[in-house]
Amino acid sequence: MLNWEQLEAACSGCTGCGLCETRQNVVFGVGNREAKILFVGEGPGQQEDIQGQPFVGPAGKLLDDMLSIIDLDRNINCYIANIVKCRPPKNRDPLETEQEACIGFLNNQIALLQPKILVCLGRIAAMRMIKEDFRITKEHGQWVEKDGIWMTAIYHPSALLRDVSKRPDTFEDLLSIRQKMKELNIQA
Ligand code: URA
Repeated sequence: MLNWEQLEAACSGCTGCGLCETRQNVVFGVGNREAKILFVGEGPGQQEDIQGQPFVGPAGKLLDDMLSIIDLDRNINCYIANIVKCRPPKNRDPLETEQEACIGFLNNQIALLQPKILVCLGRIAAMRMIKEDFRITKEHGQWVEKDGIWMTAIYHPSALLRDVSKRPDTFEDLLSIRQKMKELNIQA
């Protein structure tokens, strides 16, 4: 297992899959490295690729608003990362091979953080982190304990931008995350 500095250095020089050829920046992750709650998206989009930070485009603005509802702030008390650290061209879903090549970085981030809660943002992250056949429409907001970490998935903020009818469900899911934080004595 690498420490944070080693891991970030390894990640920034990675040529483990074809995405390294089209990226502008590796998007390692952001947040408090002592945080006990981790949010996992699928992969960087255009703005993220340009700025080297996760969730800084329109979906990121919405994510920050969602976090603030439950007293979370990316600069203070949570951590945000992605399944793949480099942008898939035209924002397509990351391929299985790309996810496989990259997942070790996220696993190392998890080992360093030791989060008590992991929230998957959208279907791709949930299928990778919770279970292969995860159905986001049916199973968002449900909790499962895996390897000592409480995991759940909510709709991806991009999905909430496209379809506002999903927002009330997501509000409930956020409250459920808040409740789980209380149960597990996680300071907001
Ligand atoms: N969508 C994601 O899944 N991750 C990001 O970092 C940005 C958009």
